[in-house]
Amino acid sequence: MIALEDRHLAELASLLKEKVGLHVRPDSYHALRMAIRARIEERGEAAQGTIDAYLARLREDASGDELRALLPLVTVGKTNFFRDSRQFAALEALVPDLLQRRRKGGAPIAIWSAGCATGEEPYSIAMTAAEHGVLAEEIDLAATDLNPQAVAASSEGRYTARRVQEMEPGRIERFFQPDGSGYKVRPELRRMVGRIQPQNLNAPVYPRPQTGSWDIIFCRNVIIYFDTATARQVLSRFHAVLAPGGFLFLGYSESLFRLFDGFQLTEIAGAFVYRKPAKPLTPAVPRAPEPAPFYTPSAPVQHLSAPRAKPAAGPAPQPERSPQEILDASVTLVETGKFEAAVEQLERLVAQGGEDLAARLTLANLYGVLRQPERARESYQAALALEPLSAEAHLFFGIHLLGVGELDGAANELGRALYLDPDLALGHYYLGRCRERQRDPARARICYRNAVDAYRREPKGRRQSFLAYYPDVPEDGAAIARAAEYALAAL
Ligand SMILES: C[S@@+](CC[C@H](N)C(=O)[O-])C[C@H]1O[C@@H](n2cnc3c(N)ncnc32)[C@H](O)[C@@H]1O
Repeated sequence: MIALEDRHLAELASLLKEKVGLHVRPDSYHALRMAIRARIEERGEAAQGTIDAYLARLREDASGDELRALLPLVTVGKTNFFRDSRQFAALEALVPDLLQRRRKGGAPIAIWSAGCATGEEPYSIAMTAAEHGVLAEEIDLAATDLNPQAVAASSEGRYTARRVQEMEPGRIERFFQPDGSGYKVRPELRRMVGRIQPQNLNAPVYPRPQTGSWDIIFCRNVIIYFDTATARQVLSRFHAVLAPGGFLFLGYSESLFRLFDGFQLTEIAGAFVYRKPAKPLTPAVPRAPEPAPFYTPSAPVQHLSAPRAKPAAGPAPQPERSPQEILDASVTLVETGKFEAAVEQLERLVAQGGEDLAARLTLANLYGVLRQPERARESYQAALALEPLSAEAHLFFGIHLLGVGELDGAANELGRALYLDPDLALGHYYLGRCRERQRDPARARICYRNAVDAYRREPKGRRQSFLAYYPDVPEDGAAIARAAEYALAAL
């Protein structure tokens, strides 16, 4: 085992803060410990115990490649039991039909928690199933993660008292047993999570249940760390291993909008989840309200290719609108010049306490457009508190700071965005503008060249689709590359 001292973790925490703006508090150092061990083992350096050398390399690596490889592992600490209770209400709504299918001689309920972190998610799924009378042999529940240390922790099922006490006492008593100063999952609950194993979602082969395809895949708060090309590959593999009519649960702030259109957005018990159509979608049939094999949603199914900027219906009042629908309605309001009304809607959405990154970023941008820089700053900061590793949030915060003349802050934020995603042509371009205003033409020139190169690497402008809506920022990759070329010529 690698000897990791607190000073190593403090050094890594300070590096993460400096390079990508991630603030890791000392009480979350266990996540850093797990990440660094997993990464060093992955690199085959465990025997050398060269933690100081590794940290030095991390600091000196100008490309940022090593830090980027470490980042997904660092996110392992961001999880908790029954995270997003609405999604667990949706799961509760699905379980009875799946159980009935099984008890009529059909396949066991097949659920995969992909990116399970330290196990809170799969055990929450298992508890939900058990509360509906599902027995261990009636469910094929798998949990996987990239980080082998997280997988080992999931398998062990040992948690601090603080973590467990977020749940109702009845649940703790039924599913956990005291273990030193914390708790351990009871063997019956552990048995319900059959497979717990390492799995890189970037690998081409995905696990399958005994019966061939999953009824439900949970992959929450994972794809947000992938670039668009990787996210698309991952989503198409999920699509392949999901049963027709099966469900994909993504994180609250993750959207497939303009990313992947093989799924339909469906409301179940107040949560919005993605569903693989029971029959393949064809371009001639934009809506496919096929009968579900085991569950028929009460809400109308919405086809994902309906563009966010132009929702089919206007912002007509509806009893319960999804965050996405509220965002769509706000975008329509902005497009018709009703900025204040859009802000009002988004403020209400954010006040509901949702972890909605897209809403916070859209709101931040609108405050900027409305010349309310302090509100914009607060809103960007709130977005970054939600997702500290969102390149998009750093990028647009940087653009905002540049707009209000805070050049050093802008350079920091734009640098962080580019550290997280070096292919952001928009980030290179704005950093170039920032360097020009800092009277540093040599660095400005490099940034503009990087913008053109980033565009050439991805001529189709893969970053045209941001999570949020920015009416004042050009999203067209070709236009950004052209602007960078003009700027270069003028320097
Ligand atoms: C923020 S946690 C999410 C945990 C849980 N799904 C939740 O929402 O509470 C992200 C997890 O994704 C895992 N992860 C990141 N990249 C991955 C990859 N390429 N393959 C599999 N897991 C990955 C990380 O190790 C981490 O445990």
